[in-house]
Amino acid sequence: MCGIVGYVGPDEALPILIEGLRRLEYRGYDSAGVAVVDGGLSVVKRAGKLAELEGALAEQGGVAGRVGMGHTRWATHGGPTDRNAHPHLDCTGRVAIIHNGIIENFQALKTRLIKDGHAFGSDTDTEVVAHLVEEELPLHDSLAGAVRATVRQLTGAYALVVASADDPGGIVGVKLSSPLIVGLGDGENMLASDIPAVLQRTRTFVPVAESQVVEVRADGVTITDLDGNAAAFQPLEVEWDLAAAEKSGYDDFMLKEIYEQPSAIADALRGRLDPDGRLVLDEVRMPEGKIEDVDKVYVVACGTAFHAGLVAKYAIEHWTRLPVEIDISSEFRYRDPVLDSNTLTLGISQSGETIDTLEAVRHARHQQSHVIAISNTVGSSITREADGVLYTHAGPEICVAATKTFATQMVSLHLLALYLAQVKGTMFPHEIASYVDLLRALPEQVERALELDEQITELAVRYRDARDFLFIGRHTGYPAALEGALKLKEISYIHAEGYPAGELKHGPIALVEDGVPVVAVATECHVYPKMLSNIQEVKARGAEVIAVATEGDREIEGLADHVLFVPRTHELMSPVVVTVPLQLLAYRIAKLRGCNVDQPRNLAKSVTVE
Ligand code: AGP
Repeated sequence: MCGIVGYVGPDEALPILIEGLRRLEYRGYDSAGVAVVDGGLSVVKRAGKLAELEGALAEQGGVAGRVGMGHTRWATHGGPTDRNAHPHLDCTGRVAIIHNGIIENFQALKTRLIKDGHAFGSDTDTEVVAHLVEEELPLHDSLAGAVRATVRQLTGAYALVVASADDPGGIVGVKLSSPLIVGLGDGENMLASDIPAVLQRTRTFVPVAESQVVEVRADGVTITDLDGNAAAFQPLEVEWDLAAAEKSGYDDFMLKEIYEQPSAIADALRGRLDPDGRLVLDEVRMPEGKIEDVDKVYVVACGTAFHAGLVAKYAIEHWTRLPVEIDISSEFRYRDPVLDSNTLTLGISQSGETIDTLEAVRHARHQQSHVIAISNTVGSSITREADGVLYTHAGPEICVAATKTFATQMVSLHLLALYLAQVKGTMFPHEIASYVDLLRALPEQVERALELDEQITELAVRYRDARDFLFIGRHTGYPAALEGALKLKEISYIHAEGYPAGELKHGPIALVEDGVPVVAVATECHVYPKMLSNIQEVKARGAEVIAVATEGDREIEGLADHVLFVPRTHELMSPVVVTVPLQLLAYRIAKLRGCNVDQPRNLAKSVTVE
């Protein structure tokens, strides 16, 4: 998720762009850059936070011009370096591009463009667009026409803004899957990823629709479809203040990020299948021969990432028949684990900076294990120390409590498990394809699970003052229960524990007495009948049971006090959907308790101390 802002008007563009990027830094902060049309095109860009760019601009005395665009990056392809920072230029240096999203077919385009003589200056997917516009410009009577012809060659997700020194009076934007809005001002007009970027300049906006191309000039805006047909648009007036706008109108980043899960999962799946439907995970950089030699998998992670690893354990073992051991990172290297060159170690860390997991990964590599990092942060420490990487593409997660990064960790690990099975030949292609289809159904199923929010808000009123919560589940419902308990305790400060449901009778059931809330993950799976027995166990001792169950399950209704129905999913993937109501339950209870859900006490987003 990157931040984009563009300006065309009577004022100097640079200060407006910088202020816009400052308001968009929550969307990504690996690097920042600007392009200003000043007779030619002046481009200044730097890795690091916005301050780095501001320093570079100060050194050269700024850039003058009334047409320009800016970008703050959350890296997806290519590390966070100066050369990979946006904007990107064509060979002539007269076309500049900024981009939010993923160009899935960039590699084939780049190969063809290089063969045709284009010189590339970055490792990004975005740069191919600059060279394609360069090729199209002479063939069209406008920059917008060249952009329309260009995007017809792209597959993927993008919000693009293009500036050309040969069309100094405007900029052109185009949207497919990634957000882009138009800001309509008085004698000036703007483009942005999100409202906060230009809210100080205008409260009148036009959301750009899918596959629309926007031509922005000081005296007006033209919107067309990809064929150049004019599209009518209806401006909207926004009443939000800036703080609300940065959270897209949600009260907290946590709620925004919970609701971003459908699009985050779609982004995690994007670009990982070739035209023949085979999984392509090149960034794991593991020769297929080495994968074939793998005879054991270790998973190391902390907190929520550990719970994602637990979910992955079930899938990897089921699909590849490889034994999977999983350790809390801080325990792993102190128990003298048995690894060798045929062990594959997965280090899961959304920040990529958790020192416990970093040290675990270092230990695994020291034992000759091949290490793949599963991370949300391009260029983070763990990605530099691993042999290969699988990025989760969830975009920046501001809330300390992990939500959308948990969903994308699981989905990414499912993809990796299927990829291992594909290479080791432990599954037929049609079997793999059927599971990929199930993964592709998850965004819509999570969307439907989010509709439970109102029912959960009512439940939260009933349980806001509970002293203890138990979360129970079996099979993949067990890591889901652990994650639900962690979410509740870390943001509401209520004592909550997750247990394997079959474990209650070995001690924890002593905690159950009248009124103790027990959340039971009881979705359809091969151990569902056992879950019913466990629910009866706790009910018999006075518990109030909140069951998460599969839509259409009538049996559970006679047993549990409250039922949260979620869409039917495969049991190996069900935590992706089941966790949504558990996240919402934690959030709604914490809000009623007046807790700071985005920055809970005692916690940090990334724990960089042992
Ligand atoms: C989860 O809500 C917590 N923020 C915490 O447990 C977190 O998952 C853990 O610290 C691991 O962080 P990482 O994924 O960045 O390594």
